[in-house]
Amino acid sequence: MKRSDFPPDFLWGTATASFQVEGTEPGDGRGGSIWDTFCATPGKVHNNDTGKTACEHYKRYAQDVALMGELGINAYRFSIAWPRLLPDGTGRVNQKGIDFYNRLIDELLKKNIAPCATLYHWDLPQKLQDTGGWATRAICGPWAEYVNLAYEHFGDRVKQWFTHNEPWVAAFAGNLQGRHAPGNTDLATAVAASYHLVLTHGQAIEAFRQSKARDGKIGVVLNLYPAVPAADSEADKHAADLSDQFQNRWFLDPVYKGCYPQELREIFEKAGAPLPEKPGDLDFIKKQKPDFLGINYYFRKVLRAAASEDIAQGKIPHPALPIVEVIPPGARTTEMGWEIYPQGMADLLLRIKDDYGNPPLFITENGASFPDDKFAVGTKSPYMLDDEDRRQFIEDHIAAGLRARKAGANLAGYFVWSFMDNFEWARGYSKRFGVFYVDYKTQERSWKKSARWYESFLKG
Ligand code: FCB
Repeated sequence: MKRSDFPPDFLWGTATASFQVEGTEPGDGRGGSIWDTFCATPGKVHNNDTGKTACEHYKRYAQDVALMGELGINAYRFSIAWPRLLPDGTGRVNQKGIDFYNRLIDELLKKNIAPCATLYHWDLPQKLQDTGGWATRAICGPWAEYVNLAYEHFGDRVKQWFTHNEPWVAAFAGNLQGRHAPGNTDLATAVAASYHLVLTHGQAIEAFRQSKARDGKIGVVLNLYPAVPAADSEADKHAADLSDQFQNRWFLDPVYKGCYPQELREIFEKAGAPLPEKPGDLDFIKKQKPDFLGINYYFRKVLRAAASEDIAQGKIPHPALPIVEVIPPGARTTEMGWEIYPQGMADLLLRIKDDYGNPPLFITENGASFPDDKFAVGTKSPYMLDDEDRRQFIEDHIAAGLRARKAGANLAGYFVWSFMDNFEWARGYSKRFGVFYVDYKTQERSWKKSARWYESFLKG
């Protein structure tokens, strides 16, 4: 497999997110976000790690972009921190925040790296959470202010935009499972949040097309999974279908078809979690057709119907959803416990092609965590870290992307998660996803074998 098997304008990148890499100190006027609050709540994040230092990308962005230039990528996906631009979520603008993204964007352009900006990668200003956050429709006002500010300042140079990153995670990990900020465990709150995330996605597209940024392109990033029944039984097939409705179609269907999966909608309603829909909303959302879809692909889901002991042991997402995820016998997994299954990426891309009108697609995240610390650090070999598992993972997934392209999927780019090791949300710094190693004591970045491989692939 060679780079030239892909079109010349294919985007080859790496991805990060503001809270995971920037470091929040010094804040330079940045306001607090729900992740600052979550980190400050004992027991929520592994080792009580915080985003205070992270990778100091806010300070070290120029050095990082230089490294991206050496790597040979032509695109960098980063996210803009809402609380850096609007510390209170609305109202007062923080010029220093705007200056930072201007510097980052200009630095990228100097190296011929296309800046690809995500508007929301989970760092909601805390002040907006205090008034209900995504669970209330009132979020639409501040959101409009924020996205317009970003288009206004960066739209002349950023040509690829993403509205939300993984709204499923923001809504359900944050408000049902409580394992992400803001840490709620209430189905009705989560369903309402999921709805407003989709609505604000539509709103962001509408505003985009009326803004200075409109000659660029915009889409959403969804975390999607092929859903496969564990056994060839009706019960397991139904479990897989429910998982598909919950993880995939709950977002794909309103965005592309202006509707919600009926069965799941009714399940949520019966469980006291109705969609806070207003007449006209779904038509509005459907009309804001994205220019492309970003897909974060990490693994597939294999599902079986829950038995009563699964329910007692809390293995199901909610009593209304009696489904259990399993790892197939003999499957290999990453350090996150995620099954390594590259073919799932090809299956997913082709499914989107078939069911959602063959839109242009990006793999906006794909990568793996492995315990890199077990390798020697500090020896100056060409490959400081021999992360062969990660290297192979990336190669196999790019190959799956190529197979999907050959079968007709409109795949236009691939972004490795992540450029460098960073703050992995509730796992803190204990999980490393980078192709560059970060020594958190010194902030030194080092090449891993996976980065060297990506470099040689990109440089042909
Ligand atoms: C995704 C997130 C990203 C990162 C990877 C490992 O769900 O979008 O920020 O944490 O998982």
